[in-house]
Amino acid sequence: MKRFVFAVAVIAAAGAAADTARRRAAVPPPPTFATVAPLFQQHCTACHRPGGSAPFSLMSYKDARPEIQQIKLMVSTREMPPWKPAEGCGEFADVRRLSQDAIDVIRAWVNAGAPEGDPRDLPPPQQFSDSWTLGQPDLVLNTGFHYSPPAGGDSIRHFVLPESFPRDRFLRAIEVRPGAGEIVHHVAVMFDRTGNSAALDAADPLPGFDAFASMEIDYGILGAWVPGARPYQFPQGVALRVPAGATLVLQIHYHPQSPAVPPDQTEIGLYYQRDLIDKIADAGNVFVSWGELKIPAGVKDIAFSRSMVVPEDKDMYAIAGHMHYLGRRIDARAVLPDGTTKCLISIPDWDLHWQGYYAYREPVHLPAGTRIEVTGHYDNSADNPQNPSSPPRDVHGGNNATDEMCGIEFSWAPSAQHLGVPP
Ligand code: HEC
Repeated sequence: MKRFVFAVAVIAAAGAAADTARRRAAVPPPPTFATVAPLFQQHCTACHRPGGSAPFSLMSYKDARPEIQQIKLMVSTREMPPWKPAEGCGEFADVRRLSQDAIDVIRAWVNAGAPEGDPRDLPPPQQFSDSWTLGQPDLVLNTGFHYSPPAGGDSIRHFVLPESFPRDRFLRAIEVRPGAGEIVHHVAVMFDRTGNSAALDAADPLPGFDAFASMEIDYGILGAWVPGARPYQFPQGVALRVPAGATLVLQIHYHPQSPAVPPDQTEIGLYYQRDLIDKIADAGNVFVSWGELKIPAGVKDIAFSRSMVVPEDKDMYAIAGHMHYLGRRIDARAVLPDGTTKCLISIPDWDLHWQGYYAYREPVHLPAGTRIEVTGHYDNSADNPQNPSSPPRDVHGGNNATDEMCGIEFSWAPSAQHLGVPP
């Protein structure tokens, strides 16, 4: 409680319109919208704005006022802003977690009846432009048509982009720009060297295709996007490689929240690496095998683990956990050859709808011989509100959304690699 009084006092003292009468009585004035608006701008409006992924805007007092009780609840439970990795495990870039002080200020504002305060104290309004965050890309690609996913539920669709690359292309970043931000929940950029994706597309009467079939895919982990995410740029000299002859495939997870589903045409911008290429960032993963992953109906907590030994010194740039509906928690750590451990990621409250890729602030160095261990916990009881089966049924590993997976994906490169390849 002390902390909250202090935070409010500091903000109020810094505010232009301090209420002197109240200050004399040593009761700090309640926070106003001017106090919470900068927090909304910093932590919420990337999604909570017109055309954003969230169902309402938090750009103005008028927008925020009707939602105050839900806002208080969602920030108190830390369900909003969505940021799944636990504090203290992995030093990630662009952390979206609210500080306890910020949560206390928002709660105090709601408890005080959400006063508007003096509009002159408001921070300057934010400008959101449609332009690319990283500047004009070297190449912009899209599917060439608009697609409306079915209303009322989640669906996953794959689109083949109309471009292949006559020679290897080295990228420093991929930026994803969803066409209909309110329904696009997750985009992964992948490549296909087999031509299978084009055949699957041709066989499906609608734009794109649903299934993965036997497509040889390779996650461009840093070409993945979730609402509110900023594109990741590899350090100088490190690049993603799009192999000669490959086509890019967009995997889009749609999540329409109302019957009015706008058509989507998601674009990606490719940024070429301009410097000599020293390292190629590779996608790696550690997954429990599908055969081992057996989750009996009704079981409340069952865990599966898997580990791998790092064959040569590596630097890890980004990481993601992957489970489906029954996943409750996932943890990954690295046990170094000297016995010390590094926590890689911990998601104590797994939610399929908020799976993100998390970039490390500094690459994580993993010496040869390091063991990467991952453990996932599942709840296949009727108490799990995410359980897609009622009554619960036995679930095993597999590719369907109602099957399960357990593992981590990451992007890394050999520490000692010095290719010196021209871009
Ligand atoms: C990364 C995007 C994103 C950010 C950042 C974000 N939200 Fe949300 N928010 C959503 C989406 C999307 C929903 C809709 C529910 C869902 O799909 O889970 C939502 C739902 C909500 C709801 C409604 C919950 C309900 O079920 O009625 C509240 C309240 C909320 N957000 C408040 C906030 C606040 C306050 C912040 C900032 C402190 C914030 N959100 C930051 C995306 C975001």
